[in-house]
Amino acid sequence: MDSNKRPETMARIQTKEQADAFIAEQVAAVREQVGGGKVLLALSGGVDSSVVAALLIKAIGKQLICVHVNHGLMRKGESEQVIEVFREGLDANLVYVDASERFLSKLEGVCEPEKKRKIIGNEFIVVFDEEASKLTDVRFLAQGTIYPDILESDGVKAHHNVGGLPEDMAMELVEPVKLLYKDEVRVVGKALGLPASMVDRQPFPGPGLGVRCLGAINRDRLHALREADAILREEFDNCGLASKVWQYFIAVPDFKSVGVKDGKRYEGWPAIIRAVNTVDAMTATIEEIPYDVLHRITDRITHEVDGINRVLLDLTPKPIGTIEWE
Ligand code: XMP
Repeated sequence: MDSNKRPETMARIQTKEQADAFIAEQVAAVREQVGGGKVLLALSGGVDSSVVAALLIKAIGKQLICVHVNHGLMRKGESEQVIEVFREGLDANLVYVDASERFLSKLEGVCEPEKKRKIIGNEFIVVFDEEASKLTDVRFLAQGTIYPDILESDGVKAHHNVGGLPEDMAMELVEPVKLLYKDEVRVVGKALGLPASMVDRQPFPGPGLGVRCLGAINRDRLHALREADAILREEFDNCGLASKVWQYFIAVPDFKSVGVKDGKRYEGWPAIIRAVNTVDAMTATIEEIPYDVLHRITDRITHEVDGINRVLLDLTPKPIGTIEWE
């Protein structure tokens, strides 16, 4: 049987009972797969890897070593939060690696989306291999791959956790939620006792802001994107949209338009708002954002973020647009 194919008989996990049964099954499967071995987990801080972390802590406790790589493409404050939640809250065995400079210099001048994804994905593996070599007996690499990643790895986008592994990779994969859709991962996370603030948080792609800083990533534009994104999140929190919208973010393209500031010509990048609703990320609809909120966000971003002189709203559903721009 193809282990990457969801059996047709597999019911959609919606209830706590179904989730508990899934957890029990996976706990047993993980224990059987890894035995007494140590497992490295790519803990990005997103829903998927957080749920995998909780599941693996339940299955194998301190045999799990969570590695959080700050690839320099995290949202504002995110790496700090991962450290706080997992080290302090869950008492996880957590290694923090600041690899920002490495990733950003490898990405310099690269504008092709698939190439960017592959560089980020491959660099992740290199960093994990390095971390693994500092530890003894680590033979396994856990990942928060979910079913849409597998379904869409065939030609649409090279997701970092599917297909990008080097042939000679020394570690065997542990992917306990790879046959689940996003909504099921959340139900499982709740059943595992993770706080709602973590389980219901919006998904964040592995390549992070790298696929939202469109084209060749430049540090100034990446900084502007991170600041604009933080403002969007703050305003969505303030008006109640944060708990209603599935995923929302800013993308900043690699071109400038002419503007005017303090009576002078002011060229800047546009910040594009994307706010979508979906159940499983396979299709998505557009959230209606009240105009007063849009005006406030526009006003704040154009005044507070250096280098941004326009704010645009993306009204494209999936299909035809994917959720991310790259
Ligand atoms: P798309 O853009 O394909 O995104 O419509 C569907 C969902 O997947 C997220 N996404 C990723 N998640 N690694 C991930 O773990 C990735 O490379 C990746 N690319 C997209 C995206 O944010 C959306 O929620």
